[in-house]
Amino acid sequence: MKSFKTKDSLKNYLQSLKKGNVKIGLVPTMGALHQGHVSLIEVSKKHCDITIATIFVNPTQFNNVDDLLKYPKPINQDQKILEAAGCDILFNPETREMYDDPEVWDYEVGELNTVLEGYFRPGHYKGVTQIVYKLFNLVKPDLAFFGQKDYQQFLVIKKMTEDFNLGIKLYACPIIRETDGLAMSSRNIRLSPTERIAALQISKSLYFTKKNYTVMPIADLKEKALKFYTNNSLLNLEYFEIVSNDGLKPLSNKKNAIALVACTVGNTRLIDNMMLD
Ligand code: PAF
Repeated sequence: MKSFKTKDSLKNYLQSLKKGNVKIGLVPTMGALHQGHVSLIEVSKKHCDITIATIFVNPTQFNNVDDLLKYPKPINQDQKILEAAGCDILFNPETREMYDDPEVWDYEVGELNTVLEGYFRPGHYKGVTQIVYKLFNLVKPDLAFFGQKDYQQFLVIKKMTEDFNLGIKLYACPIIRETDGLAMSSRNIRLSPTERIAALQISKSLYFTKKNYTVMPIADLKEKALKFYTNNSLLNLEYFEIVSNDGLKPLSNKKNAIALVACTVGNTRLIDNMMLD
């Protein structure tokens, strides 16, 4: 695997590759890689000639300084995981390489920025679109791969890609779960053993919702799902919503629905979701 830390070195290398008309797949990450990320590399390798992973803990998307400071950075382990997955290129810049001068990023993604994650994490999607735009512009990939766990992020990046006519095809790859149902996340390593058990209520509430989706009215489903989060002092639910999977809007009928959750377990904020039909 080739590894680059500067934009110029990566750009030069890509220029030589692009002369050969290769199809390039991009997997943007913030590191602390797990099987979910490996699955993105695998899908990219199936569709593309060259797969590039980026590891960059992007400061502009954190609305909580503590969360940014605590974000795990096991770079040596990440490199080994990427090598083993057969990734071709790693781009792992320092913060100043991506943000050398103070800059203004004014892109507004619209309604998606006002609901769920957009509402609970003000400014988060501004930071996400800012860095993903930079990475798209630098790599100019043919395809880019994201996890469905950050489903709203996927919709936001899709909208940005369309708004700017970037011509990059985006893939949302399935959520990879531990055997007991917990969605894999870089944040899971922060959970204590008791928090790890409490966190299972998240996937349990989603599986319950999916199982009963065809037989229960949405309001009843939601009421019952919320019960998974009561009587446990480790859980602090931010939202549990059942909405349309295209624009995250209230459902007018039971079609194309998705259930999405954000819940703090101890001090760790986790998100998860499940398509219902
Ligand atoms: O999903 C993530 O890991 C990040 O939000 C992303 C897309 C790499 C941008 O920093």
